[in-house]
Order: sequence, then C-alpha cells, then structure tokens
Amino acid sequence: MSLFDILSETLFDPLERARENVDARLEMAEIARILSVGNGVAQVAGFTDLHADELVSFPHGIMGIASNLRQDRIGVIVLGDTDRLRPGDKLRRTGRVVDVPVGAALLGRVVDGLGRPIDGNGPLDTDERQPVERPAPPIMHRAPVDVPLQTGIKAIDAAIPIGRGQRELILGDRQTGKTAIAVDAILNQRDTGVLSIYCAIGQRASAVARVIQDLRKGGALERTIIVVAGGNDAPGLQFVAPYAATTMAEHFMAQGRDVLIVYDDLTRHARAYRELSLLLRRPPGREAYPGDIFYIHSRLLERATHLRDEHGGGSLTALPVVETQAQNISAYIPTNLISITDGQVYLSPELFEKGQLPAIDIGTSVSRVGGKVQLPAFRAVAGNLRLMYSQFEELESFARFGTQLDDETRIKLTRGQRVREILKQREHQHLNVPEQVAALLAATEGLLDDIAPDDVAAAEETVQNAVQKFEPDLCERIGAGADLSQDDRDALIATMRRALHAKEDEKDNGDA
Ligand SMILES: Nc1ncnc2c1ncn2[C@@H]1O[C@H](COP(=O)(O)OP(=O)(O)OP(=O)(O)O)[C@@H](O)[C@H]1O
Ligand SMILES: [Mg+2]
Repeated sequence: MSLFDILSETLFDPLERARENVDARLEMAEIARILSVGNGVAQVAGFTDLHADELVSFPHGIMGIASNLRQDRIGVIVLGDTDRLRPGDKLRRTGRVVDVPVGAALLGRVVDGLGRPIDGNGPLDTDERQPVERPAPPIMHRAPVDVPLQTGIKAIDAAIPIGRGQRELILGDRQTGKTAIAVDAILNQRDTGVLSIYCAIGQRASAVARVIQDLRKGGALERTIIVVAGGNDAPGLQFVAPYAATTMAEHFMAQGRDVLIVYDDLTRHARAYRELSLLLRRPPGREAYPGDIFYIHSRLLERATHLRDEHGGGSLTALPVVETQAQNISAYIPTNLISITDGQVYLSPELFEKGQLPAIDIGTSVSRVGGKVQLPAFRAVAGNLRLMYSQFEELESFARFGTQLDDETRIKLTRGQRVREILKQREHQHLNVPEQVAALLAATEGLLDDIAPDDVAAAEETVQNAVQKFEPDLCERIGAGADLSQDDRDALIATMRRALHAKEDEKDNGDA
C-alpha cells in the first residue's frame, strides 16, 4: 500500500464523508443583546428590523414580545422569569408572533399563559398552533344572540339572563362570590354541550387550586381548559393569558361549538399591563394606566360573539370578572368594562354580609342582550321580577319607619320576602330549568306566603320534587323551551299546592 493510499484512507476519506454531511447553506439570524433587564421587561439593542409584537427568544427558553420599538433600543415584554436573564445575554428574533396550541387535546388540561401544560400530565397531543392576538370577527360574520346560556342560578337566569355569544361582566368587591358564580355557570353546562375555558389571571395559587378541585368534583374538568397565569408569574404572562385562552376558545367556535370563557379577573390583568407599561416608560394616564388600557380590553372582549352558520355557527360567551374597591363601580377599569360588555352582574358586600347568597344586587345588574332570548317559561313566571323586586325593596325601606300599612302593602311585603328567600342559592347547587321555574312560580303566585322565611328553602325543595315527579312531561317541555300556557301554569300550581299541603299535614301529624 502506498503512502498515498494510507493517507487517503485515514485522513481524506473521513474528511470527505464529514464534508458530505455539512449543510453549506447560510442561515441568517439577527442577534441582539440585553442592555438591562428586570421586573418582567428587558431593554435590548442590536436588531435592525424587528417587527412590533414579534416574538424574540432569550436564553433558557424564555420568550419575549417586542413592544416598544425605538431606534436605539427596544423594550421587550418578557414571558418568563427575568431573574434568570443578565445584561449582555444574547437574544434572537423568531419571525413569528406569540402563538399557542389549540385543539381538543387541551380539554381537561391545566396550561400556562403560553399553553404549556403545568398539570404534570405530560405533553399536549396537538400540533396545531394559532396566534394569541387575532382580529375580532367582522360584523358581517356575526349573528344575533338567539340561544340562552343557562347558569343554573335562579337570580341570573330569571332576572339577568345571559345569551350565548354575550359578554356579561361579573363585578363586585373582593370575597363577594364572583368566582363562585363563574364556576357554577361552568358546572351547569353538563348537558348542554358547551365547552368552557377558565382563565385565572394574577390569582393566588390556592384560589386557582380550589377552582380546579370544584370543577373536578363537579365532573366538568374534561370539558374545560384551565389557563393559569398566577400572581407570581411574570406580568407578561399575565398579560397574554386571556388572549391565549380566547384563541383556544375560537378554535372550538370555528368548528361550530358553543364556548363559555371566564376571565378571572381583568382588574389584575389591567394591573399587570400597567406595570409593564410603566416599566416600558409609556406615558401614564388616569390612575397611572397607559392610554391604550381601554383598547386592550375591548379588543379582547370583541372576540366574543355568535357566528353566522356559514362561518361556523359557533358562539363564544365571555364572563369577565372585575374586582371593585369599596363598591366603587365608577372607577376607571370597571367603567371601561361596563361600557364594553353587554351587561353586568353586580355583587354587593352588604347582601353577602346579610347572608343573601349569591349576593347579586338585582337593581344594579342588567343584561342588555340575554333578555330577548330568555326561555319563554322564564319570561312567563319572572317577566316582571326585576320591577316587582325593586318595588318591594323600596316599600321595605319605607315600611321600616314604622308606617301604618294597608293590607295590600302588607301582602306585597310578604310576597317580596318570599321571593327574596327563593333567590337565595347555595354554591354548586345549580338548578335545571323546570326546578327554577317551579320555585319562581311558587313564590310569585303566593304559594309560599304562609310559610315562614326560614322554611322557604325546604318548601322550595318540596315543590321542585313534586313537579318533577308528577309533571315529568311538562318539565321536559319547559326545559326544551316550550311556552308556559295558562293550563300548564294551573297544573304546576295545583301540583305544588298539593305537595305543600301534604307536607303541612305530615308535619301536623308529627307534632300531634
Ligand atoms: N352562593 C353561595 N353560598 C354560600 N357560600 C358562597 C356562595 N357564593 C360564594 N360563597 C363563598 O363566599 C366566599 C367567597 O367566594 P368567591 O371566592 O367566589 O369570591 P370572590 O369574589 O371570587 O373572591 P376574590 O375577591 O377573593 O376572588 C367563598 O368562601 C365561597 O365559598
Ligand atoms: Mg375570585
């Protein structure tokens, strides 16, 4: 073997083979460096033509959104822990915007603000991704709201009905039962085929854990996606979470599904955005919020709608939650949201203290859309409930002065008190349509007038059981959306009366 052969075998051949494996294409990657970093934002320099809202990638797999574009430096919202980044660290542009996984594989899962699973149940089984920010459907793609979304809560379904595709604000002070209402609305979708998304923003981990546990116990987890950006997470993650959750919902809506989404809560979302904006040195406005604070919420909630059939026919119902301070519903963020949404459910701490739960203040709450699609049976028994109830409250405060009352007034007061008792409802005790209709009919028709307020809850159960047992066909029709004819009404009243009398006799015999 010549020297050349030996050389070629030991030196050149491996070289040749290595050369074949080399991909000689040039890959361009713009590299920039961090100038300063902290508290959820980074100032970077070195990009030549970065786009607004483009995703950039830091070391340790941390992502960021290019936000403030200036000639000399760029402000980036960091979607991760800024403590792990240092000035001088390199970052690169990605050429895309923030996107999240979508699809049925997400149902039953708990994910973070970027759709990454955090429940320890392994990776998501989906390859499809969609950008988190998308334009809302244009008007021509939208259909009127025409199907009710039953929450199973009497006070809401009767007095402040919500329709599929509507945006209804839940607002109230801290610890007034806001989350409880949203969770009950999700739990009540058991037989309706409505999918749910619960998006927790800036909350304590224990509060989120409680919601997850409630949903699991109520058997709702497998048709729910839980998106969590906790109070300890980066403000950037808290900021994108609701948009990400909406993108996940829109995927189902485009397939013709009805989706219910809860943003809990947008006060904390606004605060996270305010923090980011101040750190990015944007000029502060009212209450130190930046000028586009209205726009960040309106572009989110405008995505809730009911689509026309030719565009999928699905719907997205939004229940944003907002926390007020000292019952001030005319503060900046609450008023913004009141003006964006189609109504609000107001929870009063005073009612909560009195034990009137859920603490819904019917006079201050309104639904600007859902009333038109309320089930006919509800309209028949609770059509004038709001008016009647507010008259009763007025009378009651008047009667407190020890005024002499005529019989008519006294009857109104008695009846109003029974209606008030009927509107009480414990957590997770969501009721189906016939159960609610029976209770409301019994109260408004005066069947409960002779029953002491404390015994109304027991009587309510009696009448609900009675109508389900003796009028099953009628109950089914009511649930399916049939109107309540005079005969139906009489039949229900007769059945309920009989049941109450039977109960009374039973009690008398027991006492004797
Ligand atoms: N209808 C109800 N019946 C009985 N208890 C209720 C009812 N609604 C809420 N609660 C209780 O009231 C407390 C506060 O409820 P919840 O956490 O829903 O309020 P919140 O307004 O969401 O509070 P936060 O401001 O902390 O988010 C909870 O302990 C809950 O169990
Ligand atoms: Mg809450």
